[in-house]
Amino acid sequence: MKLKIARLAKQHDKKNFSCGSTLLDEYIKKQAKQDVNRDLSACFVLIDEQLCVKGYYTLSANAIKREEFAEDLIRKLPPSYADIPTILLGRLAIDQTMKGKGWGAILLLDALHRSLSIAESLGSLAIVVEPIDDNAQAFYAKYGFILLPSSGKMFLPMKTIKDLVNMNILPE
Ligand SMILES: CC(C)(COP(=O)(O)OP(=O)(O)OC[C@H]1O[C@@H](n2cnc3c(N)ncnc32)[C@H](O)[C@@H]1OP(=O)(O)O)[C@@H](O)C(=O)NCCC(=O)NCCS
Repeated sequence: MKLKIARLAKQHDKKNFSCGSTLLDEYIKKQAKQDVNRDLSACFVLIDEQLCVKGYYTLSANAIKREEFAEDLIRKLPPSYADIPTILLGRLAIDQTMKGKGWGAILLLDALHRSLSIAESLGSLAIVVEPIDDNAQAFYAKYGFILLPSSGKMFLPMKTIKDLVNMNILPE
């Protein structure tokens, strides 16, 4: 099956999307397009040849309170940055029929590349995720995301993503 990643558009068929989380299913079916139209998030979908949505993720501009990060990460940052600029990978989901085949990793890598490219024009210390449960947390931990204990969010420093690209560890 040939799949590709595209920006969410009205011809994409979302009605049968089911990832196992009602919240994430309802989001792509009912809310995602509205959020995009209101410039609250950008949404990218994994689509098959019939334009059926098989996965998606969202990105938004975001900020994290300085004190949420561990001291060693923020020690060298100027104190004037009370809020640290980040990119939020708000949601990431794969249809149940496609799970366990590497598509979740492909969407995550696409989000990391896209975030790195955005960060070249709009400063951003890290990409942040909000795992919905322990499973999601374990998935992100596998890719090096670090837990922020005060909020349950996780982050991956942009520098780490840059290093992975420079070392050719992060595939295109
Ligand atoms: C989490 C999710 C996106 C993973 O997608 P997937 O396509 O099944 O995952 P992949 O097949 O790409 O797996 C890539 C790697 O992550 C690992 N992995 C997948 N789910 C994992 C989990 N819950 N915990 C730990 N590792 C996990 C796989 O074993 C694989 O490792 P490998 O490369 O060493 O074999 C998918 O299960 C999903 O949509 N879950 C429901 C929604 C959700 O939790 N979203 C994330 C937070 S909002």
